[in-house]
Amino acid sequence: MDHSNYVIDEMISAKSIAARVETLAREISEHFKDTDKLVVVGLLRGSFIFIADLVRELDLPVEVDFLEASSYGNSTESSREVRILKDLRGEIEGRDILVVEDIVDTGHTLDHVLHLLESRKPARLMTCALLDKPSRRETGVSADWIGFEIPDEFVVGYGIDYAQRNRNLPYIGAVRFTS
Ligand code: IMP
Ligand code: MG
Repeated sequence: MDHSNYVIDEMISAKSIAARVETLAREISEHFKDTDKLVVVGLLRGSFIFIADLVRELDLPVEVDFLEASSYGNSTESSREVRILKDLRGEIEGRDILVVEDIVDTGHTLDHVLHLLESRKPARLMTCALLDKPSRRETGVSADWIGFEIPDEFVVGYGIDYAQRNRNLPYIGAVRFTS
């Protein structure tokens, strides 16, 4: 195991994230203010901290469910082939859905998940991503709410990993490879 060939430079502070999450939650609460049928769907595993902070700021009755799509494995490149590793527990037909993603990169994951959920006939299907890397996009997908737009850098922290490490950093940092 090699633990020493990269360093992490802070890109977005914990304080900036908290302020942005509060604003997003206010906008989302306003958007869904007439519903008592909201299901917040977190995409595992990268969104687990974001979703925990976001739902606590929502001024709405919410249910929380999770879905896990295949990830990069231990690489920093998307495989483009998306598989569902863990499906939702609940039915979503007629429900209002907010899909919460950590990062929209090429867009293949979100695109695949949205098509799948759409086929189950939710009443409304909206999306919120903490981070967006628009320069990397290979699909037409975009999230309805975005926390921060970032450049084409590999990031970790606040739930997001590199080879399963660094999810527990309280900030978002860019990985800089040193060898
Ligand atoms: P996409 O299918 O290419 O849009 O990739 C989306 C998923 O790849 C995200 O949900 C992340 O789990 C992962 N990913 C994309 N960029 C990064 C990154 O910079 N660091 C860690 N994971 C990333
Ligand atoms: Mg992910």
